[in-house]
Amino acid sequence: MKSEDKKLNEMLSQIESYRSHITNEIAATQFPEAPLNLYEPVKYILDLGGKRMRPILSMMACEMFSGEYQKALNAAMGVEIFHNFTLIHDDIMDEAPLRRGKETVHKKWNERVGLLSGDALMIESYKRLSQYTPELLPRILKLYNITAIEVCEGQQMDMDFESREDVTIDEYIVMIRKKTAVLLGCSLQLGALVGGSSDKDAQDLYEFGTNLGIAFQLQDDILDVFADQSKFGKQVGGDIIANKKTYLLLKALETANSSQLSRLKTLFNETDLNKKVEGVKEIYAELDIQNKSIEKMELFYKTAMKNLDDVNVDESKKMPLRTLANFLLSRES
Ligand code: IPE
Ligand code: IPE
Ligand code: MG
Ligand code: MG
Ligand code: MG
Repeated sequence: MKSEDKKLNEMLSQIESYRSHITNEIAATQFPEAPLNLYEPVKYILDLGGKRMRPILSMMACEMFSGEYQKALNAAMGVEIFHNFTLIHDDIMDEAPLRRGKETVHKKWNERVGLLSGDALMIESYKRLSQYTPELLPRILKLYNITAIEVCEGQQMDMDFESREDVTIDEYIVMIRKKTAVLLGCSLQLGALVGGSSDKDAQDLYEFGTNLGIAFQLQDDILDVFADQSKFGKQVGGDIIANKKTYLLLKALETANSSQLSRLKTLFNETDLNKKVEGVKEIYAELDIQNKSIEKMELFYKTAMKNLDDVNVDESKKMPLRTLANFLLSRES
């Protein structure tokens, strides 16, 4: 085996081992038996799996500065639990039927159960973060609170954009930065903080994470249209159905000729959902939207890699993050 392949395999198995730490920690987390309709959905969403990339980012960042990823375990659990809370509420807001290949919480139970079990998860995530020492805690909570409120702002912008037709690409980037990207930045910065990094390195990693997160959300929007339904785990076409102002749609609106534009605008109100999704996809194909979106994603990926170059540790220590970033942007779910 070539030495490069060997290194890649080592990195991938390291990622797997971080992931299984999180899975084990989740399995070991005890929740009360009752009320069943509060705690069953909490367990359900956490046990559904997912890529666990936010906690892996925290652990990798911590390992990079301290050689001890274990110190980041509570931060890692905190961000993963927070993420799962946002997914339950996001699926209510997006009226999504599927999550990680299974029924969403509000479909399996109902929306009231989804709201409250989401709240319980958010409190659980604070419990995890509160485990840190009084020296670290104020900085951890300050960063976490800023991030969490930005996620709310991003989610509100995302919903507001559904009924607007004049959203700009700059506004879209601000929206996805808030709803998705800052949590990746925060996951890394928390790991760096508990790992004892300098403030500058923690900030550079935050920038790396947010630019990677923007690329990640662009990829999420691309997959929402073009993924293979049997691998995706979510409803393909959901963003088109909800008139989400994704990069794909905004680029189509920007580059469409007048007949394509009027077809697109008619499709916004189409009630036959199959016809709607197929119609929009046809216009995307005519305008080469998939490739244009991939190009945009790659721009943010490159900026992220430059941010990582700036972090003041040996290149060999950055390899796990580079490998994870590559994996995330070539994923199918
Ligand atoms: C889904 O996040 C929500 C977005 C920010 C796009 P992930 O794609 O990380 O979801 P899981 O945790 O792997 O299921
Ligand atoms: C979700 O964006 C961002 C948050 C959950 C905060 P999406 O709505 O695109 O995420 P998915 O596609 O449902 O996972
Ligand atoms: Mg959604
Ligand atoms: Mg959403
Ligand atoms: Mg999505």
